[in-house]
Amino acid sequence: MPPEHRTPPAGPGRAQPGPAGASPNTAWPAARWPATVRCTTNDTHKLVILVGSVREGRFGPVVASWVAERARLHGGFDVEVVDLADHDVPLALPAASPKYAGDAYPRPDTMAPLTAALDGADAFVVVTPEYNHSYPASLKAAIDWHFTQWTAKPVGFVSYGGAAGGRHAVLHLENVLTELHAVTVRDGLAFPKYYTAWQDGRPLDADAPGYAKTLLDQLAWWAAALRKARAAAPYPG
Ligand SMILES: Cc1cc2nc3c(=O)[nH]c(=O)nc-3n(C[C@H](O)[C@H](O)[C@H](O)COP(=O)(O)O)c2cc1C
Repeated sequence: MPPEHRTPPAGPGRAQPGPAGASPNTAWPAARWPATVRCTTNDTHKLVILVGSVREGRFGPVVASWVAERARLHGGFDVEVVDLADHDVPLALPAASPKYAGDAYPRPDTMAPLTAALDGADAFVVVTPEYNHSYPASLKAAIDWHFTQWTAKPVGFVSYGGAAGGRHAVLHLENVLTELHAVTVRDGLAFPKYYTAWQDGRPLDADAPGYAKTLLDQLAWWAAALRKARAAAPYPG
């Protein structure tokens, strides 16, 4: 198995899955948090930060927590963290396509909070690891249960993984989300070897906050432009 495919063992100086701010060498259970963590600002553009991984011992919530902090400090968004581990997302889809069924798409009642969160979003940041040179099945399932919820909305990416920092995952996500008429923003953050690149819930790279601001600036621009455009005329797709 190539080293970048392995989840690294715990070790001195290595970031481990767990809540942001925790000591890097503390063992902790699978990170969990309430279904939504809201940080309201004066602006009304709603940013949903989607935690894509759901596996036991995952690192995703650490990354998402830091991204939420950067988004709150940015000031341009009403921030909501949506953790897919808090939602029931079956793999078996209904016969109909969500593209054509629209609001009539028969989702399980338990999916309503997830659908409502995606519906209400003006922009997304997808926080994704890389699994076998792509993104987790949990994320694909959540994407496939929805369609209009993504359409004509901007999506940015923060990825992490082994040597490639989740770039393979993001390339696949860009492809998939374009099919749903989402607008993927160019700038994002990728954390190669995240297990050495994070400590105490933060990236060690001093430039990371600046990269996050660039991503958030681009998302804010697109969120404003596309919300106006969606209100002005139905999207032709
Ligand atoms: C099933 C599986 C496949 C993986 N494949 C890759 C891979 O192709 N490239 C990579 O850089 N890391 C890979 N990894 C390592 C993950 O990027 C790393 O374990 C990361 O922590 C996973 O995110 P999570 O902790 O939020 O689940 C893989 C991990 C798992 C569990």
